[in-house]
Amino acid sequence: MIFLFKALSRIEWLFIRIFFSNLTSNLVSIMNRLPIIVFLISVLSCQPENKPYQSISTLSPSGNLELTFFLNSFGEPGYLLKKGNSVVLDTGYISFDFKDISPIGSGLSIVETIEETFDETWEMPWGEDREVRNHNNELFVALKETGELGRLINLRFKLYDDGLGFRTEFPEQGNLGEVVIMDENTQFNLTGDHKTWWIPGDWDIYEHLYSTSKFSEIDAKGYENDENLAQTYIPENAVNTPVTLKTEDRIYLSFHEANLTDYSGMTLKVNTEKLMFESELVGAPDGSKVKTKTPFVTPWRTVQVADRAGDLIESKLIVNLNEPNKLDDFSWFKPMKYMGIWWEMHLDKSSWDVAAGKHGATTENTKKYVDFASENNIGGLLVEGWNTGWESWIDVEDREGIFDFVTPYPDYDLEEVVRYGKEKDVDLIMHHETSAAPRTYEQQLDTAYRLMESLGIHAVKTGYVGQIIPKGERHHGQWMVNHYRRVLEKGVEHKVAINAHEPIKATGLRRTYPNAISREGLRGQEFNAWAKDGGNPPEHLPIVAFTRMLAGPIDFTPGIFNIKLDPYKENNQVNTTLAHQLALYVVIYSPVQMAADLVEHYENQPAFEFIRNVGVDWEQSKVLDGEIGDFVVIARQERGTDKWFLGAITDEEAREMEISFSFLESGKEYNAVLYADEENAHWDENPQEIRITEKAVNQKTTLPVKLAPGGGIAISIIPR
Ligand code: NOJ
Ligand code: CA
Repeated sequence: MIFLFKALSRIEWLFIRIFFSNLTSNLVSIMNRLPIIVFLISVLSCQPENKPYQSISTLSPSGNLELTFFLNSFGEPGYLLKKGNSVVLDTGYISFDFKDISPIGSGLSIVETIEETFDETWEMPWGEDREVRNHNNELFVALKETGELGRLINLRFKLYDDGLGFRTEFPEQGNLGEVVIMDENTQFNLTGDHKTWWIPGDWDIYEHLYSTSKFSEIDAKGYENDENLAQTYIPENAVNTPVTLKTEDRIYLSFHEANLTDYSGMTLKVNTEKLMFESELVGAPDGSKVKTKTPFVTPWRTVQVADRAGDLIESKLIVNLNEPNKLDDFSWFKPMKYMGIWWEMHLDKSSWDVAAGKHGATTENTKKYVDFASENNIGGLLVEGWNTGWESWIDVEDREGIFDFVTPYPDYDLEEVVRYGKEKDVDLIMHHETSAAPRTYEQQLDTAYRLMESLGIHAVKTGYVGQIIPKGERHHGQWMVNHYRRVLEKGVEHKVAINAHEPIKATGLRRTYPNAISREGLRGQEFNAWAKDGGNPPEHLPIVAFTRMLAGPIDFTPGIFNIKLDPYKENNQVNTTLAHQLALYVVIYSPVQMAADLVEHYENQPAFEFIRNVGVDWEQSKVLDGEIGDFVVIARQERGTDKWFLGAITDEEAREMEISFSFLESGKEYNAVLYADEENAHWDENPQEIRITEKAVNQKTTLPVKLAPGGGIAISIIPR
């Protein structure tokens, strides 16, 4: 009999495992929804190691989700996730491959399990909501190898009503010290060929257009050779996270990670046959994935689960899985709207460098922007191209030492513009384009941030355009993850908040480091100015709101009024209506929100009134409606006031909808100003026509509204 079992192939064992895992999950559901179910059964007395199959289940606080941890007869750990009676993630395993030492992930036995309930409410220093409830049931499982090595790992699962986070912990131990991880194999086993909104698992950039396809039709390699990108590397058929899916039963799932610390970013390899995602970490030049030593933990692997697409946006799972605020004093940063000497360079109206003869960052031009910002309730001004190096920063192999982060060009009087800004209540925002030479940046970091501190500049936009030097390191690998972290920590030291472009993805670290204010990490507005493939289509942001935005704040740079980009860019345009651009101030969340267009495009424009008034820091946010890739409607209450702002955007389809104002305080009267698409507006044929009307509204009001193709509506709602 034993011989017979030994002769069975790995595949045959897999079938046996699946059979018994299904049996186990059915039995679990019979167990009548107890808060914590401990369930151990012995299923096969004649397996090779004669091990029992063990499983432990736990419910989310309201009982809507159920997580089952199990150890199969090989001592392999895995999990299964159910929503009500349906399995949303089937049997998925977790294991690790190392360099020079044997893998961990089989021959394990349970040493201890601990179940705990956690419930706290914490305050965001800035954010979509002031108060955040962090309520989860935790299952901790300590495991030990039964073999000679006896190595230890722990699995920690946190089950929320809005999803699951789990991570592997490697305690300090004699038989496991320094390790080189060659692969983390965490599986997310889908139960169908779900509709998926995805970008490729690029190790260097997230600036791709989203695709919508069945899971089995994901083809990341089709994204190779994007001529718009200064860097891209897509080694596998994998996707980046957050990746969002919709099941046939209309359940929404989104996969991501939280608290990415001293580890590589995770892409998800697509197994189109098994309908399964498997973690694929971004690699280092030597082919390894992570170099570390015990004790260490992986980032949280996260799965958001929702009945409504909008609930994905309201979910706080990602920030909740991060550590509390580390900063004692953060009063030096205030959320703000900002303008920039920026779009004019992307339009080629001016240049970053001086040699081209049309330098944008001059003292005089900066003062012009300061004046306009100051008169229009805009608190910040970004100035790009202020420092030496721009003549030769791109298209050169060796970019070390090119940029200097303290030396202005001769026509830019840094101290004078800072002084002028302060006089007019406009804070300068520093710009550091590193040209993906992080070692040069780190050498100057302390000096550069000291200079900012001495001038009272509290925010910097960083940039990492190009292939990372040293060659072979990737933007999303451990080496760069650690670089981005050092920049944040240096920022804490010198009271500097960071808005990173070409960043590592947001994983909720803003909770721990609120100076991580915003980042790019998507195909931003700039692509509309110069992309060779026609810019971002109208459906771009109705997808982004349910994918990239689940990770955290986005520096998208909305507010382009000159939609056709005349006379600067004949072959490019913004592919939305003007009302859609206004709605983005509410739809897209960021504590720094740019009014991106040129001063002359805002002057004498009645629609600019919305940007002047709109809030940038929120007491609460409500996603009223939405469908991924189609439309989204969000209302946000400004912090410290009773004002509300509402934004709705649609894809290339026109839409009619009823907006209910039931989110308003009862018994209060408000004045609403509606910035709507004109009757015949259209993102391409007639993008600029906008109708501005006023209405009295209260909690009982419902208003029918129409969005044009590629259109939107923005509404300011001010108490009377
Ligand atoms: C790319 C950034 O996304 C853009 O905003 C910036 O202007 C350029 N790099 C130059 O740093
Ligand atoms: Ca960029």
